[in-house]
Amino acid sequence: MIIDTNIGSAKDNMRSAIHNWYKFTAGFSYKFVDFIVDDMDTIPNCIYEPFAGCGTTLVAAQKKGILSIGNESQKLMCDVINAKLNWDINVDTYNKCMHQILHYVEMHNNIDVLDLHCHELLEGLYDKATLKELYLIRDAIRLLNNEKYELFFNLAISQTLHKSAIHPIAVPYIVRSKKQVNCGNALDKFQSIAKQMLEDLRSVPHNNRLAQVYNADSRKKNNYISDSSCDLCITSPPYLNNLDYGEVSKVHTHFFELTNNWRDITEKVRHNLVTGATTHYKDADFDIETFCTSEFAASNQLLMQELKNLFYNILKNSKERKGKKSFHILMMHYFEDMYYVLKEMYRVLKPNSKAYLILGDSAPYGVYVPTTRIIGQISQSLGFGDYEIYKIRERGNKWKNLKNRHSVELSENILILSR
Ligand SMILES: C[S@@+](CC[C@H](N)C(=O)[O-])C[C@H]1O[C@@H](n2cnc3c(N)ncnc32)[C@H](O)[C@@H]1O
Repeated sequence: MIIDTNIGSAKDNMRSAIHNWYKFTAGFSYKFVDFIVDDMDTIPNCIYEPFAGCGTTLVAAQKKGILSIGNESQKLMCDVINAKLNWDINVDTYNKCMHQILHYVEMHNNIDVLDLHCHELLEGLYDKATLKELYLIRDAIRLLNNEKYELFFNLAISQTLHKSAIHPIAVPYIVRSKKQVNCGNALDKFQSIAKQMLEDLRSVPHNNRLAQVYNADSRKKNNYISDSSCDLCITSPPYLNNLDYGEVSKVHTHFFELTNNWRDITEKVRHNLVTGATTHYKDADFDIETFCTSEFAASNQLLMQELKNLFYNILKNSKERKGKKSFHILMMHYFEDMYYVLKEMYRVLKPNSKAYLILGDSAPYGVYVPTTRIIGQISQSLGFGDYEIYKIRERGNKWKNLKNRHSVELSENILILSR
């Protein structure tokens, strides 16, 4: 297999219509989907994507005329995906909605920004006039009374949030040390972004909706997806790298009032995510002996020996390092969660189908955790056959010079499972 080293990153997506409607750096390249599908002897009937993210797999499948089903546990991301999949946007209705939005903003132009009850996080990211425009556009969209167009314009305002901010809102966090040159002017930006989105829809090969996304947790059985209903899986789970997806999207979730504070992010977002960050659990709730009696541990007894060794090594190193984060507990939760994701994947996939997962290895407190191989082994405890691993690239190099950074070589890989 010849693999482009950028296949695991979202770089290509920034130059492809519709894929570039939302800036989500945790995504992979749409070319990954094209590459797998084009390489198959028969076109798949339906692709399963348990971590739909910003919808790369679903959009790429729809562009190819293939059905797909995804789960995504963040409501915000589901809205993004749905907007990217609705291609039957009518020009007249678009114009009517845009007219309504502009009229609303104009009518409320004299309102004091204080009366809009803007979130304090956003107050630090935009000048007053921009903030006012953003909130007025948001409120105007809420009054459209047409779900499909609300999703479309909400996605346009989401892009505007990125483009008009004083500091870049990037994954993982807001980069306050940098300033965006062309910030502000939300209303103008919103109009030109929406216009470009409408323009992009002229290039789509059809306007049928071929993908379904559920706001669901992939660790659990999704009763809307039948057994053996998909014949290919293409996905990239969260990595074991302490990236908190709840935290990453908070500017947007606070803006849309899906969340308002840390507690909301924990209860409404983090609880539904694969445990990928130390903010996702309480250390005191974890007991290694109890963990060893879990379904996951019982089904993976050999592997548990290795995991326990890693657990104690990470714990030992954590005592000698700064930070004192409980990466040893995080690792256990992560693999247990991935066990349940793979269990559901096994149910959804037809026999003889393949699953392609992009994964990164990790080194919490300098202890090498061969994440890709471990997930391959866990899949076998659930009935998957032999697995293959292809290295895409070395990763973590950009942090190499950081003080306290480990020197373990890490890689990003494709794990191929056989159902
Ligand atoms: C690495 S990103 C996937 C990116 C995706 N392949 C793309 O290109 O857009 C992981 C995604 O999984 C979602 N996620 C995490 N845990 C989940 C779970 N238990 N069920 C469903 N989605 C989950 C996160 O919200 C995040 O959007």
